[in-house]
Amino acid sequence: IVIYWSRSGATELLASKIANLTNSDVCQITLTNPYPADYLETRTRANRERDTGLTPDLNMQLPDLTQYETVYLGFQTWAMTLSEPLKAFLKAYGNELSGKRIMPFETNGGYGIGNCLDVMSQLLQISGATNYTIERPLTIAGNQVDVADTAVREWCD
Ligand SMILES: Cc1cc2nc3c(=O)[nH]c(=O)nc-3n(C[C@H](O)[C@H](O)[C@H](O)COP(=O)(O)O)c2cc1C
Repeated sequence: IVIYWSRSGATELLASKIANLTNSDVCQITLTNPYPADYLETRTRANRERDTGLTPDLNMQLPDLTQYETVYLGFQTWAMTLSEPLKAFLKAYGNELSGKRIMPFETNGGYGIGNCLDVMSQLLQISGATNYTIERPLTIAGNQVDVADTAVREWCD
């Protein structure tokens, strides 16, 4: 299954490519209070959430994951770390990823993945997840996703 969150569409486009190539089901992470379209307003809110540790409320139902071996988990880098919605997802549902093979895919503004994978590991541990593996991430600049088919295919293979 492909599980992802996306504010401005880059990670969503990447998620759809991965889902098509791997014939996966898709689950979008959704929030009670979505972020504004405006970048600066989003950044202000995200900075406040990061400073206070108060991640956004989720408004979603996770499908039963027992039927899946592999979880393609899609996110984006914010302030060189994991975006707040993904932190919220891992806090709430990290333990559901026990025993899974996690395939992380990430988009960014050109500065790379930052410490997203470290934060992901920490939150999985805190949530009580066990026996999971985190595979090599697919990392793509958000404005390059439309020309990244070769890299996406190689990673999926
Ligand atoms: C609040 C905020 C903070 C960001 N911080 C970074 C950053 O530190 N480094 C980076 O390379 N890109 C950063 N970006 C750019 C996003 O990672 C990039 O646009 C990403 O592809 C967005 O994914 P989405 O379209 O799926 O929401 C930031 C974007 C936002 C909105």
